[in-house]
Amino acid sequence: MFVTDRSAMNEPRVSRFSVAERVIHWLVALSFLYVALTGLAIWSPRLYWLAAVFGGGFTVRAWHPWAGLLFVVFFTAMFRNWRRQMRLDRDDRRWLRLSHRYAVHDFAGLPEAGRFNAGQKSLFWMQAIFGLLLIASGIVIWWPAVMPRLLREIAVLIHPTAAVISIGGIILHIYMGTAAVPGSFRGMIQGWVTPGWAASHHPKWYREHVGSTGTTRSPSR
Ligand code: HEM
Repeated sequence: MFVTDRSAMNEPRVSRFSVAERVIHWLVALSFLYVALTGLAIWSPRLYWLAAVFGGGFTVRAWHPWAGLLFVVFFTAMFRNWRRQMRLDRDDRRWLRLSHRYAVHDFAGLPEAGRFNAGQKSLFWMQAIFGLLLIASGIVIWWPAVMPRLLREIAVLIHPTAAVISIGGIILHIYMGTAAVPGSFRGMIQGWVTPGWAASHHPKWYREHVGSTGTTRSPSR
């Protein structure tokens, strides 16, 4: 499908995320934030004040696991959509080896990024793996009466550890998607980015998806 490349203000646009991709992303984000904040409230007495924000201790304890299941449903939709595009190729592995350069804005010698760079792809796989650990250990904690003791002991170690790592990854992701890379957030809200943004952050994707006709193609699957 082709889309027009100019706004009413005659500003050139490159289509970045379809409506479905954005809706799924924000359902994943909202459910993750709810599960993360209610989980922190249950986990640490120092963070119990968070429970008040979400309706009190009883409500938070009751809703946390159900929201966790909802997160898994939404993340599964995101996973099905993006799993092929998130495969790490040879360039991505080189990018990861040189990622310290990306961190200090020294882009010389870094392989060009496609629609997603290797850091974004790694975050995706990391969230998928830690999401699985969280749901598996969470189910054990949810029904302790029917679970063997050893499984319960392993689950209470895995659940908070996986949560802390996962939340750390998302804090970095939120920083990258807002303050660190201006223009990204609009892509996930309005679905489009400027050609300059696309060419500088995802040059391989930009070349593949913007033809000489001046029109841009919708994100590939
Ligand atoms: C308030 C929270 C969040 C904000 C502000 C945010 C922002 C963004 C933005 C701006 C993009 C587009 C990046 C680009 O165009 O290159 C993006 C992409 C993405 N987001 Fe989020 N996001 C949030 C939460 C989450 C959560 C909780 C997850 C998963 C658990 C997630 C997973 C992804 C993935 C897999 C992508 C595609 C690859 C990437 O850019 O990392 N996001 N997000």
